[in-house]
Amino acid sequence: MIKEKLHRPVMVDEVIEWLDVEKGNLYLDATLGCGGHSLAILKNGKASVIGIDLDREQIEIAKERLSPYTNRFLPVQGNFRFIDRFIGVPLDGVLFDLGYSSYQLNNPEKGFSYRLEGALDMRYGDKGLTALDIVRDWDADEIADMLYYYGGERRSRVIARKIKNSKPTTTGELALLVRKSVPRKGGHKHLSRIFQAFRIIVNKEMENIKDGIKGASELLRDKGRLVVIAYHSGEEKLILQIINECGLSTLTKKPITPAKREFQDNPRCRSAHLRVFEK
Ligand SMILES: C[S@@+](CC[C@H](N)C(=O)[O-])C[C@H]1O[C@@H](n2cnc3c(N)ncnc32)[C@H](O)[C@@H]1O
Repeated sequence: MIKEKLHRPVMVDEVIEWLDVEKGNLYLDATLGCGGHSLAILKNGKASVIGIDLDREQIEIAKERLSPYTNRFLPVQGNFRFIDRFIGVPLDGVLFDLGYSSYQLNNPEKGFSYRLEGALDMRYGDKGLTALDIVRDWDADEIADMLYYYGGERRSRVIARKIKNSKPTTTGELALLVRKSVPRKGGHKHLSRIFQAFRIIVNKEMENIKDGIKGASELLRDKGRLVVIAYHSGEEKLILQIINECGLSTLTKKPITPAKREFQDNPRCRSAHLRVFEK
């Protein structure tokens, strides 16, 4: 395991405090990744942790990293959308740290980064639709709608037409095509939006969040806590709507953001918004 490549967990102290890990017996880390948050929960209390992730490779990393805690840690490869299929006991707390990890971002084979030449894949796991399938099989109007609704991209029609005309097969080709379609200044913003839209659709992120949060809130015991770290406004809107439907109370009136010190050390955490809910 190469330590420098591991994902650095965001707002660990805040997660530990809000989950109240010293008091609980069983927590679910719905987005295990490289196991950074799970490790902190295991270190800071006596509780057990179930960790779910779609990414087989990261599950292996987390297993190795958390090997001193095998008697209190259970890794599960799967989609948090189906939490109720994996778990049938009440939970003291659940953590969702949404999106991709930097371990995945830095792996060109995953195709999440517009800075790296890699496969047009973008799946967290290894099954289902890929970004390349969308480029190949969807028509220009469908692609444009995806870019507009899930990336907020105003030039969605132009970019979608170009995608259909030049049929990129790698992240590098897609990124070049986008760069050529937008003003030079601020090009990275367009690139983030386009890649975000693909990622959301490839992974059915909105459906996963909706069902995952509903499932988690049903599994929480009375007064159990749900901590969610979101990275873009689309996720946040959906989360607040579902929480409302589930009848949980909100403990954080405003989202908690990383402290300046963390921000300087780990610029990737800059868009993180942490919210806490209670059953
Ligand atoms: C931001 S990372 C979590 C990092 C983790 N907290 C750590 O400390 O290493 C998000 C993780 O969620 C996983 N993921 C995204 N959607 C998922 C889903 N629907 N079901 C299970 N895992 C998912 C990704 O594969 C990724 O590893």
